[in-house]
Amino acid sequence: MAKVVIFLGSVRHNRQGIKVAKFLEDKLKERSHEVFLADAQKYELPLLDKMHKEYEEGKAPEVMEMLSKKIRGADGFIMVTAEYNHGPPAGLKNMIDHFQSEYFFKPSAIASYSDGSFGGVRAAIHLRAVLAELGMPTIPTMFPVPKIKEAFDEDGKPLDEAYNRRIVKFLDEFEWYMEAFANQRKKGTPY
Ligand SMILES: Cc1cc2nc3c(=O)[nH]c(=O)nc-3n(C[C@H](O)[C@H](O)[C@H](O)COP(=O)(O)O)c2cc1C
Repeated sequence: MAKVVIFLGSVRHNRQGIKVAKFLEDKLKERSHEVFLADAQKYELPLLDKMHKEYEEGKAPEVMEMLSKKIRGADGFIMVTAEYNHGPPAGLKNMIDHFQSEYFFKPSAIASYSDGSFGGVRAAIHLRAVLAELGMPTIPTMFPVPKIKEAFDEDGKPLDEAYNRRIVKFLDEFEWYMEAFANQRKKGTPY
């Protein structure tokens, strides 16, 4: 069992990304993982002023304290990213940027999606560089979802059976990296 935080950064009122997040949450829970959905729409972090680390200990806004604890306690992160003008949504980047050392020495994985045929991979490639900078390198396999409106129902159930097959390699690999990093963290970290 691992602790996983799923980040969802699309805050549009009729956003599609929630479907991908729900699908991933269900699949992780089927594998007995503890999942927390860091949903930018629900937690409404302000546009970045002060990062969590810039507040005196225990003095950050309650929601920031809560998210910081969830991220610090996690073994790995899955980023659910839309593609807005070939980059990730501002809401996702804003949420990520509030935190820093909470992510260090843990793996991340990217699930991307879009209306069109490319499944948000251009945004995913941008995001990968951000995640590497924050000490949460990404696993090699990505989980792109093209034509998101036709891919899942409102509850995150796949409308195409292929997603139930594709998710296996993505999560097998993510679990391997989470376990490997957790074992290495037990020996200590460089900083
Ligand atoms: C500001 C904006 C920019 C977009 N840019 C792209 C794009 O570059 N490539 C693409 O395939 N789809 C693009 N789309 C369409 C999105 O893939 C589609 O609206 C998707 O549902 C957005 O995710 P969301 O519903 O979770 O916000 C864009 C949508 C918005 C709102």
